[in-house]
Amino acid sequence: METLDPNNNMVIESALNISPANKDDFLEQVMKVERSAWPPELQASKSKFESRFNIFPQGFFVVRLDGKIKGVTTSQITAYDESSTHTWDEITDNGMIEKTHSPQGNALYVVSVGVGADTQRGGVGGKLVQLQLELAKKLGLKYLFLGARIPGYDAYCKENGNIPPKQYVDFKKQTDKGLEAVDPEIRFYERQGLHPAKIIPNFEPDVQSRDYGVVMLWKNPQASS
Ligand SMILES: CC(C)(COP(=O)(O)OP(=O)(O)OC[C@H]1O[C@@H](n2cnc3c(N)ncnc32)[C@H](O)[C@@H]1OP(=O)(O)O)[C@@H](O)C(=O)NCCC(=O)NCCS
Repeated sequence: METLDPNNNMVIESALNISPANKDDFLEQVMKVERSAWPPELQASKSKFESRFNIFPQGFFVVRLDGKIKGVTTSQITAYDESSTHTWDEITDNGMIEKTHSPQGNALYVVSVGVGADTQRGGVGGKLVQLQLELAKKLGLKYLFLGARIPGYDAYCKENGNIPPKQYVDFKKQTDKGLEAVDPEIRFYERQGLHPAKIIPNFEPDVQSRDYGVVMLWKNPQASS
């Protein structure tokens, strides 16, 4: 793993600033991160990133370290509906955002956050979520939400016996930052100011999470109700 001083060599880039001539090379570098961050069954294709780039470049950010793209996040504008039990494919139009991005919506939905395996735990992922939160504030949106995995759930149940996903999501442990969620992904998003709002069965095929997804929600204190 690289030792990072995120404040020194981290450069943020928006897809808005990528010229048409550089688009293909940019998307190739994005795909390198995607392949490094995710197992094959959870990776998005280049055409999905291209579609997100074309439809909502404002929500497409990368972090470069020493010039190389190491982290990528994409988003869309949509309506937050607390009663929704939509799967990830339904919310994101199967990752294409063609039919689901809707500029009149009241929320920013974070479609993806991914950090290359050699760079994880260096603060890049947290920075990507902060960029999306800043965008939601800039656009005056009322909510930011996303569908998180609970990658520690299956392993936890195998070791300790089956418990309902809600109980697992609420489990805390003492860390050097205080009392935090046992699950690494819930812990990660809670550190960025998001909170679990709902558990959705069959959210996406994901053995580690037993196919559950957790809607993580942030409410904009500055947005008018
Ligand atoms: C989850 C992820 C985006 C975090 O990015 P990061 O740059 O490692 O995160 P930061 O350094 O800002 O924060 C570290 C925290 O992220 C979480 N985290 C780190 N690696 C993780 C991983 N492989 N899986 C799940 N959570 C992870 C942990 O809570 C960690 O805190 P800890 O060190 O106390 O355990 C990144 O690890 C990743 O891309 N994982 C694979 C893809 C994924 O799960 N994406 C998120 C769902 S859209």
